Amino acid sequence: MGEVDPAFVQELEHRPKLGIIAAEGIPIIDLSTLSSSDATPDHSQALEGLVKQVGNACRDWGFFQVINHGVSLEKREKIFNASKKFFAQPLEEKNKIRRDDKGALGYYDTEHTKNVRDWKEVFDFTAHNPIIIPASYKPDEKELTKLGNQWPEHPPDLREICEDYAKEMERLAFKLMELIALSLGLRPDRFHGFFKDQTSAIRLNHYPPCPFPHLALGVGRHKDPGGLTILAQDDVGGLEVKRKSDGEWTWVKPTPNSYTINVGDISQVWSNDAYESVEHRVKVNPEKERFSIPYFFNPAHYTIVKPLEEIVNEQNPAKFRPYNWADFMANRKRSNFQKLDVENLQI
Ligand code: SIN
Ligand code: FE2
Repeated sequence: MGEVDPAFVQELEHRPKLGIIAAEGIPIIDLSTLSSSDATPDHSQALEGLVKQVGNACRDWGFFQVINHGVSLEKREKIFNASKKFFAQPLEEKNKIRRDDKGALGYYDTEHTKNVRDWKEVFDFTAHNPIIIPASYKPDEKELTKLGNQWPEHPPDLREICEDYAKEMERLAFKLMELIALSLGLRPDRFHGFFKDQTSAIRLNHYPPCPFPHLALGVGRHKDPGGLTILAQDDVGGLEVKRKSDGEWTWVKPTPNSYTINVGDISQVWSNDAYESVEHRVKVNPEKERFSIPYFFNPAHYTIVKPLEEIVNEQNPAKFRPYNWADFMANRKRSNFQKLDVENLQI
């Protein structure tokens, strides 16, 4: 079995329990109401019910799965297949589009979460705006030309497949934000403006089999920083969510072709803590490799994030200081995801 590289070893209290915790799972929400557009009383009742389910799930779990979401199954399968082909290449090939610290996205396999190395390899690309420039970062012209997405030679259609899939994700993300807005008593399009120059990104994750599943994690415990995350996972499983009711790590059972949605830090701040961004992590498997594809729905880099004025009042004063989204992300990265959880911005 060999020795484990200590860089991957979690501190005792953060090591995963093996086996599956057969506890109550995160809610599964059927979105089929959204794809029918009739204006009957039945339909508006169904929509109201759906908004309630989403609101309850955001409040009680910060996580839910959606089915009948309208995302093309063909496009989902295509991106998983392309991802497998990309990661199956020798490291030398993948290294040709390695991410750098100047802002070029791409491949990497040395991510650390809270200073412990993650057992995974990754390919990132931005779905829209290829450049995320923190307000405090002034790249010179030479650097600017290096910012943004890098695409591999193989598979040759990866770029097209990824860009196509990103459009599907964006459509679903807007629908989900509308449901979240309604559940908070806001106009359905209340959040749309924030995503005009969005910095959304997609990550192809590959978790190779790991001989030390009791010591290492695919991704260490963390919260997602953006608006919301839409995750496609294969049938291997491994994602765990910290259950709000009792703080237990709870397995997210893969539901075929579903998406797992979670509230990000920004939605927590917008809702002034009504909906919490919840900690999660990924266990690894000793025999099976796992693939997952999260879509991070993120606002424009210049966005000042703060509790919405419609929500804040004398009884419910703002719980967070305003912050700039791109600066927040730059600091988060610099500190290895250690600091600047949104908790640190609490008033
Ligand atoms: C993540 O939260 O970073 C990844 C989730 C997953 O792979 O299931
Ligand atoms: Fe995450």
